[in-house]
Amino acid sequence: MEGISAPAFQEEASAQVSFYEWQLAHGICVGIEVPAEIGPDCLDKLLSVLHPTERHAVETFPEWKKSSWIAGRLAAHEALRRLGFNDNYAVLNDSRGAPLPPSGYTLSISHKKRGPVTLAVALADRSSAISLGMDIEALWPMRMNIAHLVCTEREILASMGLSQSRRWRDVLLRFSMKEAVYKAVDPFVRRTLDFSELSLDLYEDGRADATWTVLNPLPNLFLDVRWMLWNDWVLASARTEKAPE
Ligand SMILES: CC(C)(COP(=O)(O)OP(=O)(O)OC[C@H]1O[C@@H](n2cnc3c(N)ncnc32)[C@H](O)[C@@H]1OP(=O)(O)O)[C@@H](O)C(=O)NCCC(=O)NCCS
Repeated sequence: MEGISAPAFQEEASAQVSFYEWQLAHGICVGIEVPAEIGPDCLDKLLSVLHPTERHAVETFPEWKKSSWIAGRLAAHEALRRLGFNDNYAVLNDSRGAPLPPSGYTLSISHKKRGPVTLAVALADRSSAISLGMDIEALWPMRMNIAHLVCTEREILASMGLSQSRRWRDVLLRFSMKEAVYKAVDPFVRRTLDFSELSLDLYEDGRADATWTVLNPLPNLFLDVRWMLWNDWVLASARTEKAPE
């Protein structure tokens, strides 16, 4: 569901910043849209809302990385605030790139540039017993050449007979959900997964069944995967939870 309540930094944010909120099956998700090239005035305003350590980190980044990293932080802070977390906290990255949530929370970030805008989303929940993964992708243009990289034979067979645009949608959903799974499981497996290690059966209600094709790297963890379409964006999320002993 899309919400409209204003984020904490709205006064500082300029008219160039839009925000969205969805209550997803896996947690609260906040989206922040900023210009792909942030002008100096807007940049100063957005930097002023970040934690000093985050501001310091931004100074070390190349220009191309700034807008997405900042938007990701704004989305993360807002998602955490909506869960009741109001401390002044810096969302930094661990040695493998994962965002570090405050204790007692779980958090995942994704961002993409599309034309003149960058959309960043942050998915968060109030638990340290689970791990979340979030991914967004622009639905268009079709990039069918990624299909053989992303899909198992079983997944390709499942899409046979569908129209080209529907086949493309399914390829992208699978790509996005596998990226979300990677982010959710990386804290446990701490290695890159190959796309062929996971096979997904898609359902039109936004669910998907995930089957490990080789060795399940997480035998004692439940994995739940979801997807949704919004304004020609794919939003995919994954949640892992320890099975009871
Ligand atoms: C890390 C990876 C998932 C990032 O995806 P992307 O599409 O390039 O970029 P996104 O915007 O969606 O995600 C970037 C965010 O992911 C998060 N992230 C990066 N590495 C991460 C990791 N190891 N674990 C969890 N989250 C991670 C960060 O928050 C980052 O944003 P930030 O730097 O602003 O904090 C991707 O580059 C990758 O290496 N994938 C590995 C292969 C794979 O996905 N296999 C799936 C097979 S099942």
